[in-house]
Amino acid sequence: MDLLENKVAIVTGAGSGMGKAISQLFASKGATVIASDINEERLSELATDKIIPVVANVADENDVSKMFDKAKELGHLDILVNNAGIMDSFKTVANLDDATWQKIMDVDLNGPFYTTREAVQMMQGQDQGGVIVNVASIGGLFGGRGGCAYTVAKHGLIGLTKHVAAVYGYNGKIRANAIAPGGVATNITDTIKDVDPDGVKVAMSFGENLPIGDPDDIAQLALFLASDNSKFINGAVVTADGGLTVR
Ligand SMILES: NC(=O)c1ccc[n+]([C@@H]2O[C@H](COP(=O)([O-])OP(=O)(O)OC[C@H]3O[C@@H](n4cnc5c(N)ncnc54)[C@H](O)[C@@H]3O)[C@@H](O)[C@H]2O)c1
Repeated sequence: MDLLENKVAIVTGAGSGMGKAISQLFASKGATVIASDINEERLSELATDKIIPVVANVADENDVSKMFDKAKELGHLDILVNNAGIMDSFKTVANLDDATWQKIMDVDLNGPFYTTREAVQMMQGQDQGGVIVNVASIGGLFGGRGGCAYTVAKHGLIGLTKHVAAVYGYNGKIRANAIAPGGVATNITDTIKDVDPDGVKVAMSFGENLPIGDPDDIAQLALFLASDNSKFINGAVVTADGGLTVR
């Protein structure tokens, strides 16, 4: 039996990078994946009999409901992967405008809040419970790996992970864990524009030769955390950065 056979998963930000790798890996392991993204073109390339594309902006509650309507149609939701995210061009607090702060909060923190609320409501009513995997960042663990808004949002996402794990996971019914990737080769660089040199200086202060991972490195970890193989792991933040932050 495949690791995720008969499971239904929602993956946000599925059109590119880690979300794409996670969706394809989960589908190859037997899951039906509701793959959501704001980028319709990228999503349509992903569609198969196991991957159902739903165009949705995680920052929009009505769009989020569309993903969950699809899960309700399928009868259950076993896995939610909060992966969609954008960067803030390393803007330090003194140089951060309201619009950038708001946009990062909307996508990187409010989005996971909306999806998690719906997922927990659905999973609570299921005998088998469910699993939530949040793609945070090493920026969610340290002060200088992103700009101000990204750092705050990713710390918040780790807080959301721990809240769900503590409140709903004590009996193992709904588990929630976070992944904290370091540098991974994806299209997220498209969201970096007009960088703040002060923020970049701090982010780069730990060295020039950063280890860079592949989206599949993160997908393999997401698979483990989403599967019953990790059934005793709840409320954890697993770093996947090639050793960057160990030094
Ligand atoms: N790449 C890295 O080095 C790195 C490091 C640490 C953490 N992360 C995190 O990994 C996650 C995935 O990023 P990635 O690197 O694969 O980037 P990516 O840009 O390749 O993919 C992100 C996807 O999210 C989608 N997206 C953006 N805003 C959205 C919204 N409002 N609603 C729905 N979808 C939206 C994009 O269209 C894109 O397809 C993000 O949360 C990011 O913060 C990335």
